[in-house]
Amino acid sequence: MNLGSTLYRKTMLAIAGNPTVKKLSLKYGRRLAGRFVASDHLQGALQEVASLNRLGISATIDALGEGIRHLDEARTYRDEYLKLLDAIADTGVNANVSLKPTQMGLALDADACYHHIQAIVSRAQERGNFVRIDMEDSSCTQATIDMTIRLHREGLTNVGTVLQAYLHRTEGDATDLLDRQIRLRLVKGAYREPANIAFQRKEEIIANFRKIIRLHLDRGAYTAIASHDEAIVGWVKQYAREHGIPKDQFEFQMLYGLRMKDQARLAKEGYRVRCYVPYGTMWYPYYTRRLAEKPANLWLVVRHLLR
Ligand code: FDA
Repeated sequence: MNLGSTLYRKTMLAIAGNPTVKKLSLKYGRRLAGRFVASDHLQGALQEVASLNRLGISATIDALGEGIRHLDEARTYRDEYLKLLDAIADTGVNANVSLKPTQMGLALDADACYHHIQAIVSRAQERGNFVRIDMEDSSCTQATIDMTIRLHREGLTNVGTVLQAYLHRTEGDATDLLDRQIRLRLVKGAYREPANIAFQRKEEIIANFRKIIRLHLDRGAYTAIASHDEAIVGWVKQYAREHGIPKDQFEFQMLYGLRMKDQARLAKEGYRVRCYVPYGTMWYPYYTRRLAEKPANLWLVVRHLLR
């Protein structure tokens, strides 16, 4: 990232953490987040997913929640995911699910968190579906990877996780996941991380992103490339073309509300496209990360409000 965008991102994340800003945003209501959040409830999210499916776009559905304070909340989220997996199977929409470890209690009781996620991945396996464990800030990285490996080793091979190209450690982690045949989603990374563990410059992050994607595609691994950046999307298309990598060996993933026309266009061109569809009332942290990523996203919200 250049100095301007780094400063913007840091400032937005700091403002978002301010209790008064948070209180006002929540008071203003869900309309603020409407651009990025599909619905308050499961049924609404499924309707949005059905519309995306009609455009040839699959989905990964996120029942929003993270950083819970009490383990009771983790049980509620676990049950919501079980309901979600059943609803996906019963309605026949083309979607899998994404969840966050701190939503399942990682910071409170790692063992309980593991068992909640295990229950969800088991249900997904029964219903022929897949679970992606999102990656949160660097305090969660090792625990998230360990948990994914443990689930996979126990026969729950329908689980995968996310690695962040901004972390120095990611190349090693990506090789490890590849050797274990665990499915990867690669992202740039959405949290504020210090220079001793994370690349800060946009060019370095993109270079690392490309390096890791090459590693996976060259070894024939199915890979999820999650970015809205043409420097990545365009590059992957060209790399795949030049190296004879089939279009069904990877998928592009983008967030609900961003570059929707491009998502449809990519699908029309025959690429696999998966849209990350969040729903629920716990939208604040998710929404502030989107605002922090790009000043343009702030304008998307303003335009949405004016409409
Ligand atoms: P970035 O925001 O860096 O933008 C770069 C360029 O992309 C822009 O200059 C422009 O060219 C283009 N662009 C971006 N938005 C556009 C728009 N709306 N319209 C037109 N052009 C646009 N992070 C994390 O830490 N853990 C996780 O588990 C996940 N999971 C995840 C899933 C999915 C499906 C996605 C897409 C992303 C995540 N992320 C994530 C977030 C990720 O780490 C990152 O913060 C964002 O994707 C932003 O980086 P980008 O590469 O998308 O482009």
